Amino acid sequence: MHTPTETGTKIVGMGMCLPEKVLTNFDLEKIVETSDEWIRTRTGIQERRIIAKGQATSDLASEASKQALKNAGLKASDIDLIVVGTITPDMLFPSTACVVQRKIGAENAACFDISAACSGFTYALSIADGLIRSGQYRKALVIGAEALSPFLDWTERSTCVLFGDGAGACILVSTPQKEKGIIASYLGSDGTYADILGIPAGGSAIPPTHESIDARLHTLKMEGSEVFKIAVRTMCDAVFEIAKRAGMKATDIDCLIPHQANLRILQAVAERVEIPLEKLFLNLQRYGNMSAASTAVAMYEAWEAKKFTPGSNTVLVAFGGGLTWASVWIKW
Ligand SMILES: CC(C)(COP(=O)(O)OP(=O)(O)OC[C@H]1O[C@@H](n2cnc3c(N)ncnc32)[C@H](O)[C@@H]1OP(=O)(O)O)[C@@H](O)C(=O)NCCC(=O)NCCS
Repeated sequence: MHTPTETGTKIVGMGMCLPEKVLTNFDLEKIVETSDEWIRTRTGIQERRIIAKGQATSDLASEASKQALKNAGLKASDIDLIVVGTITPDMLFPSTACVVQRKIGAENAACFDISAACSGFTYALSIADGLIRSGQYRKALVIGAEALSPFLDWTERSTCVLFGDGAGACILVSTPQKEKGIIASYLGSDGTYADILGIPAGGSAIPPTHESIDARLHTLKMEGSEVFKIAVRTMCDAVFEIAKRAGMKATDIDCLIPHQANLRILQAVAERVEIPLEKLFLNLQRYGNMSAASTAVAMYEAWEAKKFTPGSNTVLVAFGGGLTWASVWIKW
């Protein structure tokens, strides 16, 4: 049992893993009645990654984790907590976090998954931060990982063009420094909108049957335009709220890492929170919406692109099914 003497947390390593297979908008033109022009102009997406047959969420998560550990200069056995944000776990149980634990050999970790859809990585980061601050854990592996492509209805053009597969990971450790690292976090939900975005079957409400499969109830369903409006509102609120909690202003943000669902959502958010679009890190053109993996992969790529200079302020902001939303303020 640790005592809570060290009160801050900081990120010391990051990693990512993307499947090799690239599916372009032109490839999709051959599958459903759509066009590269429609997808690009309505969403900003040009291509996305698709897992190979036999590959699972934990495979992507484990590779991203190994890279994060290497970048942090740590061994898997140093990790005492693994939290995975995912809505596409390897199976209903055990948790994907436990499967990752076995694959990377993190034998000293407590492991669990977080189901918060596209907000999953941001939720996981906030939860790991709280558990480290409480003194119970010291070194956490926080992952956002998804294999969404098996859960898409490849005859439904309004959803199948939007999503992709991938994983990102980071190592969060305790630090005596309170003025750097994770400064504040904010989590929100509204279950009254549970029906507008989700995968209806496969759980206890609608267990798998031949009928549920024939009705395509195991695939992602979404009321796109309704989700769009709420996404803009809640992401803006989450940016303002995290700035307030951090004792800062939205305009102090040097790099905003948003959930990568749709470029038009992000343009609307940037305009309303008065942050120039150039300060948003965007990779949705290459990967589409990877749900919980989106912010995790974007954070890794922003770090690799040297967007996090000492003293600069980064905010992660996400929105997803549940509905859920979340934001985290990081000072480097
Ligand atoms: C899905 C989304 C891109 C659709 O864009 P939109 O501008 O709202 O488009 P609409 O849903 O109003 O549909 C407009 C038309 O485009 C059509 N359309 C939908 N998908 C299409 C596609 N891939 N190719 C061509 N046409 C398409 C629709 O059938 C509709 O046609 P109709 O007017 O003849 O009925 C947009 O609503 C969106 O991004 N929503 C949020 C999605 C999201 O963020 N989800 C995850 C949250 S974590």
